[in-house]
Amino acid sequence: MLITDLDNTLVGNLGALNLLNDRFIQARQQQEMLLVYSTGRSLASYRHLCTITPLLMPDVLITAVGTEIYRGSLEPPDAAWSAQLQQSWDRSLVRQLAKQFETLQPQPDSEQRPFKVSYFLDAADASHVIAELSEALRAQGLSCQLIYSGGKDLDILPEGADKGKAMQFVQAQFEIGDAHTVACGDSGNDIALFGKNKGIIVGNAQPELLSWHSQNPASHRYLATAHYAAGILEGLAHFGVLLG
Ligand code: GLC
Ligand code: MG
Repeated sequence: MLITDLDNTLVGNLGALNLLNDRFIQARQQQEMLLVYSTGRSLASYRHLCTITPLLMPDVLITAVGTEIYRGSLEPPDAAWSAQLQQSWDRSLVRQLAKQFETLQPQPDSEQRPFKVSYFLDAADASHVIAELSEALRAQGLSCQLIYSGGKDLDILPEGADKGKAMQFVQAQFEIGDAHTVACGDSGNDIALFGKNKGIIVGNAQPELLSWHSQNPASHRYLATAHYAAGILEGLAHFGVLLG
């Protein structure tokens, strides 16, 4: 299984993306392979990306930072996954508490999802706002995850959802182990994708992912030199997979 983030990981260098697409199609003729996209985008925003970028059709699409899982025909999202997230999530209370922080600017409505509340937040304010908001949520008995990406995006998600937990849900559905899973990413919301499975961090990764990686190095995770899909290709060559 190849599971990859889209913006600034798979998408960013058209030539390398086309090459990776070709390699994937070739490799799939020789062995069973599952292609999974895991993006922070909403489904609508993913669909827009598809109109301007030559993306292969994935077997599974995970949107909104791990909170929605789509298979085959794109709607509706996996009901078992949604039901799991519903427990201990109070979206309106999250919004109400976040409203007290002037530095949090709500993202467009299209990116506000049933299990994802998203804001823009300046990097200079990030650490103290995240600490104070976490405390405010905890004080109200809410177990949430606060995920900061790209030095600007703050996502608030139910405790049980992130890109990594959604990946594990898909691994279990398809009975694919960590040794047969390669995950690729570039920013903070991808940190959860880097568990015991193989991992590729593209060379253009954001500081929050690079600093996490330097504090948590692992031999099954590869930091590429090349950027975007070229970094994925470099990592796949490192692991000796998908060579066509
Ligand atoms: C995508 C989403 C945005 C989210 C960001 C980081 O850009 O559109 O809502 O905050 O990813 O996860
Ligand atoms: Mg990205």
